[in-house]
Amino acid sequence: MCGIGACLSRIGENVAPKIVKMLKNLEYRGYDSAGVAVLDLDNKISLRKGVGKIDKLAKELKFDEMKGFIGIGHTRWATHGAVTKFNAHPHVDCLNEIAVAHNGIIENYIEIRERLERLGHKFLTQTDTEVIPHLIEENLKNNSSVLESLKKALIELKGAYALVLITRREPDKIFFARFFSPLVIGINDRDIYLASDIPAFLEWTRKVIILQDGDYGFVSRDNIYVRNLFDPSVKSRNWVLVEWTKEMAEKGGYQHYMLKEIHEQPESIRRTVIMVSKQINGVIELLENAKDVYLLAAGTSYYASLHGQYAFAKYGFKSRAIVSSEFLEEVGSFIDKDDLIIGVSQSGETADTLKALRYAREKGARIIAITNVVGSAITRIADKSIIMGAGPEIGVAATKTFTSQVATLNYLILTWAKEHGADVDYLMNKLLVVHKDVERVLEKNEKKAKNLSEIMYKRNNAYYLGRGIGLPIAMEGALKMKEIAYIHAEAYPAGESKHGPIALVTHDFPVFGVVLKDETYHRMHIALEEMKSRGGFIVSVNEVNDQDTMRLSDYHFVIPENYSNILAPLLYVVPLQLIAYYTAIKRRLDPDRPRNLAKSVTVE
Ligand code: AGP
Repeated sequence: MCGIGACLSRIGENVAPKIVKMLKNLEYRGYDSAGVAVLDLDNKISLRKGVGKIDKLAKELKFDEMKGFIGIGHTRWATHGAVTKFNAHPHVDCLNEIAVAHNGIIENYIEIRERLERLGHKFLTQTDTEVIPHLIEENLKNNSSVLESLKKALIELKGAYALVLITRREPDKIFFARFFSPLVIGINDRDIYLASDIPAFLEWTRKVIILQDGDYGFVSRDNIYVRNLFDPSVKSRNWVLVEWTKEMAEKGGYQHYMLKEIHEQPESIRRTVIMVSKQINGVIELLENAKDVYLLAAGTSYYASLHGQYAFAKYGFKSRAIVSSEFLEEVGSFIDKDDLIIGVSQSGETADTLKALRYAREKGARIIAITNVVGSAITRIADKSIIMGAGPEIGVAATKTFTSQVATLNYLILTWAKEHGADVDYLMNKLLVVHKDVERVLEKNEKKAKNLSEIMYKRNNAYYLGRGIGLPIAMEGALKMKEIAYIHAEAYPAGESKHGPIALVTHDFPVFGVVLKDETYHRMHIALEEMKSRGGFIVSVNEVNDQDTMRLSDYHFVIPENYSNILAPLLYVVPLQLIAYYTAIKRRLDPDRPRNLAKSVTVE
C-alpha cells in the first residue's frame, strides 16, 4: 500500500535525498507512482511527481536537486483514480501553500469535495486525498492555526489515514495525523523522520515513536507535539528503541530480499520459539476459558492459521480458521464475550483483520494477537500480544513470517496439550532444534529448485495438492507461485481434486504434492496416481526415505525423516518457496516487487 516518507533536518541539510532513500526503503509496500514536496529556500512548495519506479523518477525529475530542509514524499498504490502523474501524491491546495501525502482511504471525500467545489475550490485529481489540503485551506480562512485547522479537518474525515503535511504558513513544521493507517516517527540528533514503516529510516535511527489511532500534531526542530482526537489526556508519546538493525532490513549479499528471507528461516524460527516461550503467560488461560476459538487472518497468515486449526485438532482442541474479510458474514452473528479470537498478522496493520477484530472486541470476545511488529495496530486491540522474532520482512511475498507463525501456533498448542497431560516432549524438543533441519532442507533443495524452474517457467498452470497438515502447506506454496511468478497455481485438498480440477490435467500438467508419511499418506498417493495416469507432471515434497513417492514423481524434493507431524510446514514449505522464487527469476520478474501487490494491505 502507499508509503509515506517525510524528513525534517535539525541541522539545515537538504532533505530530498533522504526522502528518496526512505521511499526506496518502502518500495516493498507496493506502488505505482511517487512524488516529493519540499518547502524550498524561498518558502515555496516545490513539488515533483510522476508514474513509475523511484529510481526512474529520481533520474527524470531530479528529486535529489530539490532544495529545502523540510519535505514529504509518497509512493502511491492506486485506490481512487487511475495511475497518473496528477493522481500521484503529494497533493496541494488552490494556493499551493499546503502539500499533503496520505495513506488510507477517505470514505466521505465525495461529499466534502462537492461542498468545497461549491465554495470555489478547484480540484485537479480524481483522488480522495486531494480534499485534505483543500479542507485545511478552507479551515485556515477563519484565522485559526494550522494545527487547529488540521484538527477540524480530521474531525470531518471518515475512513482511514496516515498523513503528513507541510505548509508555507508554518514552514518550520511537518504536521501529521494517524487513524487506522500506520505512521511512525524516527528521531536522532540530525533529523526527525515520519514514515509508514520503521525500515524506512532504520539506517539512521532505531529510536522510534509509534503513533496511535487518533494521534495528530507536528514535529519541529526541537519539539514533537502529539495530541489525540479521542483522549485529551495524551500530551506526548514515549519513544522505544527497536531491536531491528539496519542490516536486518538490507539484502545482505542476496540478489533479492525474498531469497535472503527464505535463507533466514533457520534463524527466524529459532528466535521466534525463544521469544514466544517468554510470552506464553496468560495465553493458555485464555485458550482454556474460551467457548469457541477462531483463528483470523488474511493471505499467508490465513494459511498459517489454517495450519493452526489442523494442529490444534490433532490435540483435540477445536478451533476454526477464517479469512478476515469473510469473518463478519461467516460467523459475525455468533461471536460473543465467551469467544476467543486469535488474530494472526505479520504486519499487524491489515485492514480486513483489524476490522474483524474490532468487531469481535465490541461483542466482548477476548483477543490474542500474533504479529511480527511491536506496537502495531493489532497489539492495541488485543488482550494479549505475542511478538514473533522473525525480524523485518521486506519481500512482499511472506516467507519467514509464515514459518514463524506456524512455529508460534505449534508452541501454543504443544504447551496447552502438555498441561492436559499429553506426551509432547518429543515434539517440543524437536521444535527447539528444528532450525538445524531447516538449514539442511535449504542446502539439499536449492539447486534442485533452480533446475525445476527451467521447466516451470514455461508453464501457465499448476495444481498443489495436500491432505491434513499438508494442505495449508500446499496452499502457501501455490500462493507463492501466483504472487511472484504469475503462474496460475491452485491448491486443493488432494481428495477433492477428482471432483472437478482433474479435468484440466493432460500431458505435462504440473501437479505438486505435499506428501507426509502420516495417516494421509496412502490417500495422497491415490490422488497423485490419478493425476499421473492422465499425464500429470508430478513434483513431490516428501521424506528422504520415501522411495514409493519418489518412484511416482517426475521430480522430488526431500525433507528429513520424522517431520510428518505438526512441524511439517517449517520444512516442507521451503522447497516450494524456492521453486516460486527461481521460477520468477527465470521469468525475468522481480520477486520483491510483484505487480498489483502491497506488503501491508491497509485498505479493505
Ligand atoms: C503473502 O505473501 C502476501 N503478501 C499476503 O497474502 C499477506 O500474507 C496478507 O496480506 C496478510 O498480511 P499480514 O500478515 O501482514 O496481515
